[in-house]
Amino acid sequence: MPILERLSARNFRIIRELDLDFAAGLNVVEGRNGSGKTSLLEMIYLLGTGKSFRTSRAADYISANEQRTLITGSVRESPDSRPSMLGIEKSSQDTLCRIDGQTVTAASELARHFSVVSLDAQAFRIMDDGPAIRRSLIDRALFHVEPNYLEIYKRFHRALRSRNELLKQGATLAEGEYWNEQLAEQALALDLARKHCVAGFNAWVNGAPSAAQWGQVSFEYRQGWRADGDLRQLLAEAWPRDVESRTTQSGPHRAELKILLDGRPAANVVSRGQGKLLICALVAAQVSFIAHGTGRRPALLVDDIGSELDRDSCAAALSLLLSDAGQAFVTTIEAAPLLAALPIAHEAWFHVERGTIAPARPAS
Ligand SMILES: Nc1ncnc2c1ncn2[C@@H]1O[C@H](COP(=O)(O)OP(=O)(O)OP(=O)(O)O)[C@@H](O)[C@H]1O
Ligand SMILES: [Mg+2]
Repeated sequence: MPILERLSARNFRIIRELDLDFAAGLNVVEGRNGSGKTSLLEMIYLLGTGKSFRTSRAADYISANEQRTLITGSVRESPDSRPSMLGIEKSSQDTLCRIDGQTVTAASELARHFSVVSLDAQAFRIMDDGPAIRRSLIDRALFHVEPNYLEIYKRFHRALRSRNELLKQGATLAEGEYWNEQLAEQALALDLARKHCVAGFNAWVNGAPSAAQWGQVSFEYRQGWRADGDLRQLLAEAWPRDVESRTTQSGPHRAELKILLDGRPAANVVSRGQGKLLICALVAAQVSFIAHGTGRRPALLVDDIGSELDRDSCAAALSLLLSDAGQAFVTTIEAAPLLAALPIAHEAWFHVERGTIAPARPAS
């Protein structure tokens, strides 16, 4: 399992300079509002994915009055293996990724060395936002587990873009046949993998009793076209209608992941705190799917879990999340409530003050 042993950074939001060693287990980061806790998690996430979980614009996180930000991390796969040096440098124009000093073209290469899952403020919108965020939760799990999933995903989206282009031009069905065929082929491969993934999520949640405090949690995947329909045929039949609407109406880009509580859509019945706990269960299922599918536990980032949760719910959320995670980074505004809720002992504790992060003892 990959362990981020050391992180160095320059010019990332309020954190102008950082050199920090982490523990292999649970790292807790405590500090006041605006001190830089989420920024630290954001840097770790960038190192493993090439992306921020907060924004797609590098200019937002490059420190004010600076042109570039640089993040480097030393990641070790096992105690006796040689560490890999990962680096990502961002300006508002370009991204440079390096592994052991060699430039790599795709940020996805970083993920092969350092897999990371984040439970941040964006993730807590999973239940309320549109279906895209829920689809991407499945897709991100599969990028780690299925080596060719990224390629299938890209081919599908290329076919979808091409088909939509033809629809906009008012092309005939005969002209669209090639892309109908390509789209259906990639869609079916995508669909198969996603169903396998959601089955994994359900198996996990069934075996996690603390996920079932208020009822039976389950996940239902809707594939994005009529369940009894053959997609090839549907795409052909739908051509005139799709030309009219200028877009492809059926396919895995329209898929939905329903979160259910006792068979009912959870979003309509749960309280905010309960919803937060259900999202923890879903993210924990994602972590477990990655851990079992790859044989490596991903690192887990948990931002400010305590807000809106009472002490028991916070403890339940943390025990769900930490059960299958490898290295973990958990932030908190206050030490005492988190200490009371942690199901396992922390290995390292850090205090953040106005962008400066240093090892500390929890204030009791
Ligand atoms: N590009 C930037 N340059 C300089 N400072 C920035 C930049 N972007 C954000 N900041 C500042 O960085 C600080 C740290 O923000 P961060 O979200 O990490 O705080 P936090 O500790 O997570 O706070 P909270 O407990 O409120 O969530 C904020 O004060 C913010 O104003
Ligand atoms: Mg924060």
